[in-house]
Amino acid sequence: TLKLVIIGGGSSYTPEIIEGIIKRHESFPVTDIVLVDIKEGEEKLQIIGNLALRMIEKSAKPINLSWTLDRKVALKNADFVSTQIRVGRLDARAKDERIPLSHGFIGQETNGAGGVFKAFRTIPVLMELAQDVHTICPDAWIINFTNPAGIVTEALLKHSPHKKIIGVCNIPYNMRHSVAEILRVSPEDVRIEFVGMNHFVFGQKVFVKGIDRIDEVLEKLMESDGLDYSPANIVSLGWSKTFIASTRLLPNPYHQYYFQTKDVLEKDLKAYEEHGTRAEVVQQLEESLFELYKNPELRDKPVELEKRGGAFYSDVACSLMDSIYNNKQDIQTVNTTNNGAISDLPDDSVVEINCVITKDGPKPISIGALPHSVKGVIQQMKAFEELVIRAAITGEYHDAYLAMVMNPLMKDEKRSKVILDELLEAHKHDLPQF
Ligand code: G6P
Ligand code: MN
Ligand code: MN
Repeated sequence: TLKLVIIGGGSSYTPEIIEGIIKRHESFPVTDIVLVDIKEGEEKLQIIGNLALRMIEKSAKPINLSWTLDRKVALKNADFVSTQIRVGRLDARAKDERIPLSHGFIGQETNGAGGVFKAFRTIPVLMELAQDVHTICPDAWIINFTNPAGIVTEALLKHSPHKKIIGVCNIPYNMRHSVAEILRVSPEDVRIEFVGMNHFVFGQKVFVKGIDRIDEVLEKLMESDGLDYSPANIVSLGWSKTFIASTRLLPNPYHQYYFQTKDVLEKDLKAYEEHGTRAEVVQQLEESLFELYKNPELRDKPVELEKRGGAFYSDVACSLMDSIYNNKQDIQTVNTTNNGAISDLPDDSVVEINCVITKDGPKPISIGALPHSVKGVIQQMKAFEELVIRAAITGEYHDAYLAMVMNPLMKDEKRSKVILDELLEAHKHDLPQF
């Protein structure tokens, strides 16, 4: 048997991963899929379960699919466990976005104060999952999509007994595909050398069949016509010629929060007034998606799902599982332990990096030193992430405050406390450690 358990199976994203499994069934012959969710998500889980059944039936692949609220039972004999949960659901995300915004700070799901709290809510829950996996199916790989994916993966690798954990994100995938489009080559032939962490990663080389073509890509980026690899949740403001010409690096869409902070704040505040925060937009999108999913005639993943920022995440997850299962030794970008690959970051840091994917997991391809231009910001970000992890584990107020005030988007001692206290209060039901 080859069994996949999807934690957060009632997510509106699930049809994507089901499609991904169906597409790859020849090389990655999954026999069993179990969708797991919590009581509050039961209705969604059923809708998704039934749609997944219809998709599998249409494909005629021999896959048994079921769904349950009993995680421990589901985990028996699992080979892969993917996680796509949102602790506190979209309501909690809305608070992460709104509260910092209301004080004039970036309000975003994985960056700034919101990202800190998403980590605080998520880490304890996934620690428990990792513990269960370790006792029930110790050989299983956890493929973690849950945000903030890099921080969460590092927390688990440092503090849980289970060590077979890989973090994933669609941003490196999006960047590779967009670059392929502008160079008019196939995405399979493009290898971006990434350096940094999840949602804070830069591309420092763009290899096409072994030749570095980053200069051409940067040229296009400076003309800023047609190179927009932002996911649906980020409205790109474009990059100035000077920034690109000076750094000679490919930024990722999330870098706008750090290098265009004032402009983004202005844009996000305007959007907030016009149609609410991203969480509120996504809530409406979800409602219409679930209406579609309920239709018994629907037997495919609907295109409307591409309006979600995480579109194509399943390609990342499925290629990864396929390569582990088949010991393919191809190169993919994942979040894993640094182990010296980047000499300026701690060995036990989790970095987003190109790896050779083997049956024993990802093996990072050595990069050496960080580019000097971004060495400081990357090291600062990593040190901040370590503070977040520590606070998420200890539940100590002063640890939480340190994480908050040392975030590069905060750096305001009084307002950090005000926002921290408001968020602690707003999320108190999802923060058992505090
Ligand atoms: C991007 C990120 C994901 C994130 C998603 C949010 O794709 O890589 O980590 O979850 O956007 O999209 P949403 O539609 O929920 O705003
Ligand atoms: Mn098996
Ligand atoms: Mn991501």
